[in-house]
Amino acid sequence: MIVPDNNCSKCNLCRERTNIVLPCGDLKAKVVLVGEAPGESEDFRGIPFVGKSGQILDSAMAAAGLKRSDVMITNTVKCRPPKNRDPTEEEMSACRQFLNSELEYCSMIVGLGRSAVMDLIGYEGNLWKIANKKMNIVIDGREKVFLPTYHPMSCVYRKESEVKLIEAMMIVKAFMEQ
Ligand code: URA
Repeated sequence: MIVPDNNCSKCNLCRERTNIVLPCGDLKAKVVLVGEAPGESEDFRGIPFVGKSGQILDSAMAAAGLKRSDVMITNTVKCRPPKNRDPTEEEMSACRQFLNSELEYCSMIVGLGRSAVMDLIGYEGNLWKIANKKMNIVIDGREKVFLPTYHPMSCVYRKESEVKLIEAMMIVKAFMEQ
């Protein structure tokens, strides 16, 4: 796996970061969950999904019988965007070599929310049209199953998103047992 060095300045997100946030969980997992970008808690601790979004993700995983240590959890970009704005296409593409190296050994990738789906398959339409529909994609010449779904934060105000996120985790669980 290629990781950014401590002084990485491939994009402007380096200016305000506290910590670079590297993947957690099983780094050789069959399934990788890709979030959008670190938030305040993640920037502070250097670990993905440890704040409010992380609590929601953990409970969706638990509802499907999954633990964090069953999968790898990472983000499109490894540094926090100021004021938690969405990462830009330029920032995601500057960080893409790191993400691609994290995805080398997995068979399934779950895109959590619009930014991850945009980065991984270039889709900018409505997420509800493709949410929880498995598709095949190729990353660095290797075929992977891709599962687009909702970001944990979108579950805060929308019950349907939470139902879909739990369903996505059930699809992951079934895939892991294949
Ligand atoms: N939101 C994300 O997309 N990723 C994190 O690591 C935390 C919040």
